[in-house]
Amino acid sequence: MRVLITGGAGFIGSTLARAHLERGDRVTVVDSLVTGRRDWAPAGASFHQVSVGDPELERVFESDGPFDVVSHHAALKDVRRALIDPGPDAEANILGTLNLLRCAAAHKTGRVIFASSAAVYGDAAERPTPEGAPMAPISPYGISKTACEHYLSFFAHNRGLPAVALRYGTVYGPAAAEESEAGVITIFVKRMLAGTRPTVFGNGEQTRDFVHVDDVVSGNLAAADHASAPWAVYNVAHGVETSLNQLYRLLREQTGYQDAPEYLDRKPGEVLLNCQDPTRIRQELGWQARLSMREGLASVVAAYRAEMVPASAGAR
Ligand SMILES: NC(=O)c1ccc[n+]([C@@H]2O[C@H](COP(=O)([O-])OP(=O)(O)OC[C@H]3O[C@@H](n4cnc5c(N)ncnc54)[C@H](O)[C@@H]3O)[C@@H](O)[C@H]2O)c1
Repeated sequence: MRVLITGGAGFIGSTLARAHLERGDRVTVVDSLVTGRRDWAPAGASFHQVSVGDPELERVFESDGPFDVVSHHAALKDVRRALIDPGPDAEANILGTLNLLRCAAAHKTGRVIFASSAAVYGDAAERPTPEGAPMAPISPYGISKTACEHYLSFFAHNRGLPAVALRYGTVYGPAAAEESEAGVITIFVKRMLAGTRPTVFGNGEQTRDFVHVDDVVSGNLAAADHASAPWAVYNVAHGVETSLNQLYRLLREQTGYQDAPEYLDRKPGEVLLNCQDPTRIRQELGWQARLSMREGLASVVAAYRAEMVPASAGAR
């Protein structure tokens, strides 16, 4: 399989790029390195430092394509920064995606797989939230993911470009940046191991559907191998709701840290409760998350403890 991964020098994209290479696929990475790191893109991939919104992107399709799969992970995803100024987010995430879709359609791409997010649901009334729930984003980041999904559907139905949107829960793993959606885990673990009291914004009863990056990668491979509809949307999540207070307790057990957190005011723009229904992807693509929260967190704690983690958040 010939695969183009945008954002392949970032947390999820680089992990996915390695998985595709390991099974013998040919991988091209496009990344502007705005937050990613050149050395995170695997050595076996063809690398192009270009923004997805740049007209230069077309050259990558000409030189390395046609692609069986374009896996679109490039995005600005700092929810809090976009609340202050939504412009750069809209430019990179919406206009960048539009340019990518235009190139993908013109160069006979087999399928686009889009890294979407639970942020499209906003504060959903129904939990676990199924894919058919209303899209009601409450942040510029969620708005950009929602707009991209509409463009993907448009290209699938009007330009013959098959597409899948994978709505991730909160993706965590040893290299998740502190400012990312699962940054709370990175921050808690680093602080607990350093003996510094972590801060919880809000009362800690807000919930997330945490999913390990290895499970997200296997969800992407399932979509690459088995998706057949011209356009489909899937939740990539556990269907398990974990509050920050529960997360804190689990990490305290694993790190041996004793103290309670400091509680400060909740930050605006963040969804209060999230839990997604993963039934559709299990039934249609045969995927389900494998790593329990306890196992996944143990791998993160072990990695930070052994200082095996490439300098991620701190270096960004
Ligand atoms: N991490 C999560 O919890 C989570 C949850 C839901 C969805 N997602 C989505 O998954 C994708 C990957 O997230 P991540 O956590 O790996 O983020 P990341 O910041 O580690 O990776 C994003 C990569 O995209 C690159 N990039 C940004 N703008 C670009 C542009 N205009 N052109 C080319 N490259 C660009 C960055 O340099 C970076 O390497 C994003 O689309 C994100 O919105 C992530």
